[in-house]
Amino acid sequence: MAAEVINGKEIVRSIREEIKQEVEELSARGTTPGLVVIIVGDDQASHVYVNNKEKACAQVGIQSHVHRLPADTIQEELVKLIHEYNRNPEFHGILVQSPLPGHINEEQVVDEITPEKDVDCFHPVNVGNLMIGKEGMLPCTPAGVMEVLKKIGVSPAGKHAVVVGRSNIVGKPMAMLLLREHATVTICHSRTPNLQDITRQADILVAAVGKAGVIEDRHVKPGAVVIDVGMNRNAEGKLCGDVDFDAVKEIAGYITPVPGCVGPMTITMLLKNTLSSARRASN
Ligand code: GUN
Repeated sequence: MAAEVINGKEIVRSIREEIKQEVEELSARGTTPGLVVIIVGDDQASHVYVNNKEKACAQVGIQSHVHRLPADTIQEELVKLIHEYNRNPEFHGILVQSPLPGHINEEQVVDEITPEKDVDCFHPVNVGNLMIGKEGMLPCTPAGVMEVLKKIGVSPAGKHAVVVGRSNIVGKPMAMLLLREHATVTICHSRTPNLQDITRQADILVAAVGKAGVIEDRHVKPGAVVIDVGMNRNAEGKLCGDVDFDAVKEIAGYITPVPGCVGPMTITMLLKNTLSSARRASN
């Protein structure tokens, strides 16, 4: 039987509606959540992503500001600006858009964002809190995937979840959130031999590789939930995920479309982190 294609747009709409109401309530009590996005240089894709973030903020009533810096901005200037936003009570979230120009050390830049405003959940303190299960910031893409599972009524408890990809932004935190929800988790990566022998055991399969079509029907157990985090361009320049959608949808139980699910869910979780941060600041 063909898989149910997860209606990402509807999930995003309903969660953003909830966020909007909570933003209204918090604003009425005197705290309007604010997000600043710092972008350095003129990477075209980044400008598109940043516009989407701005639009999403406006949709739910979060105040947003995009701070644009020229490509030749030096590290010290960027760090100084981050310190200013760390102190600015109007902004509860600070996001430095990646990629940064080659002369800037991205890791050091992230370290300068105060963990309380690190809405990407990239700061080592927030990564550590995630490891020990302490409440706080959640990494946006993995948190979005967990919301999707919740919305379709799939509990990870007792299931075998296989994450393909081990990045700091998606693969590793994804595994941690699934583990937190009591899944048995396996992480696969480019050096995993016989990938399909492992992925075929997955009740929940998360593809976060960054390469079009790496997950084929032979990698998937019939009835599995397949979540595609990939955002690639195929040979024709069309946006596509890591999963061979047409083949896998014939055997999976559920499948996410690309575009239209994990991407907008990631932005939705950014809104949620900004709201949570504003709420903590107002207490
Ligand atoms: N570039 C593309 N996606 C993201 C994101 O979620 N956060 C940051 N900081 N940069 C990005």
